[in-house]
Amino acid sequence: MRIKRWIATGAVAIATVGALNTLPASAGHPYNPADQSLRNLGLRHDLYMGTAVSMAALNDAADPRYRELVASEFSTVTAENEMKWESLEPTRGTYNWGPADELIAFAKQNNQRVRGHVLVWHNQLPGWLTTGVNDGSITTEQLREILRNHITTVVKHFKGKIWQWDVVNEAVSDPWDTPSTLHYKGFWAQHLGPDYIADAFRWARAADPKALLFYNDYNIEAFGSGDPANDKTQFVYDMAKSLLAQRVPIDGVGSQGHLGTQYGNYDTLQVAAALKKFAGLGLATAFTEVDVRSQLTEAVQNGDSNEINPRLQASAANYSVLLQACLADRHCLSFTVWGFTDKHSWVPNWFGNEGMANIYDENYQPKRAYNLMKGDLIYTGPPYVLPRIPQKPRK
Ligand code: XIL
Repeated sequence: MRIKRWIATGAVAIATVGALNTLPASAGHPYNPADQSLRNLGLRHDLYMGTAVSMAALNDAADPRYRELVASEFSTVTAENEMKWESLEPTRGTYNWGPADELIAFAKQNNQRVRGHVLVWHNQLPGWLTTGVNDGSITTEQLREILRNHITTVVKHFKGKIWQWDVVNEAVSDPWDTPSTLHYKGFWAQHLGPDYIADAFRWARAADPKALLFYNDYNIEAFGSGDPANDKTQFVYDMAKSLLAQRVPIDGVGSQGHLGTQYGNYDTLQVAAALKKFAGLGLATAFTEVDVRSQLTEAVQNGDSNEINPRLQASAANYSVLLQACLADRHCLSFTVWGFTDKHSWVPNWFGNEGMANIYDENYQPKRAYNLMKGDLIYTGPPYVLPRIPQKPRK
């Protein structure tokens, strides 16, 4: 009886996939067994495989391989920087849509969906905004109005072209912040109080009723890391639950997935359990910025395979853990890597002596991580991996 019921569910799922194939991203691109790209293998599970895109790299005529691989390997793209506030509105009132629009056109041409990143974040804000707030020329009331206006203008500009919006990014502190008890951190909470989060989702929904609205953060891959009273994943879960109770239109939680091989990290069962718990609230999930960096010791830099091989293997294993967990939950809609090649990665700039974080090396050779991910997409299917269940935007 149980088996029969499961088969019936499977049939419904297959019918759903057929219906999804009429959406723009997969139109004309049903799963094709001859195509072994990540994007095509992802389609077997209706999972969108994505990457962050640097427009400078995409437009570099001397580096054509970058563009080719973005088009051939991925079914969803995220602007690495071009939709952030400082890029879109460097001067107050003057919007620079060019590079972001270009990415949207590229995505359309290549049958890709777009994740919008990001509406509200404390980083990469334009100088006019932070300076104005600091010198008192922008009042709290005006700041709230500026935020409402920004969200409305940006979401309307891209209306109908964005699949998932990261509405609020990284609003929650980490145990190493002060105070160490988890709290809402950063510019927006400081100046507007935590209610800006609910407001942001409501304003985004009013501007585009169809885009899926996500909360996005790092270090929320699993529950139970560290002190149970100070568990960031639990904090985000409680926040999402409370937003839903207030009828705030949040549709999903994005787990960035920035990991390092020097840390403890997780296994597939822990990550799958976290995704399932969020799905239990009626939310979709996604991995939105996956990369797995390593410390570049002197030996690594000198080419010592004793130190390089374990890093490559550990990085690959962590990619695989996150991807398998995503595959295992039917509400995990997409798996995006934060850049795909070590040639263009934010890691060395941001973390100093760390790198080797991506799935292709600096010469565009696929690394073990790429192949492990490919294997995860190939050697999976019913009963544990079933097609995605599409998420309906909350009203
Ligand atoms: C990073 C970009 O990759 C860099 O190019 C930029 O200098 C800083 O921001 N979390 C996020 C992303 O949500 O927007 C960040 O992207 C990486 C961490």
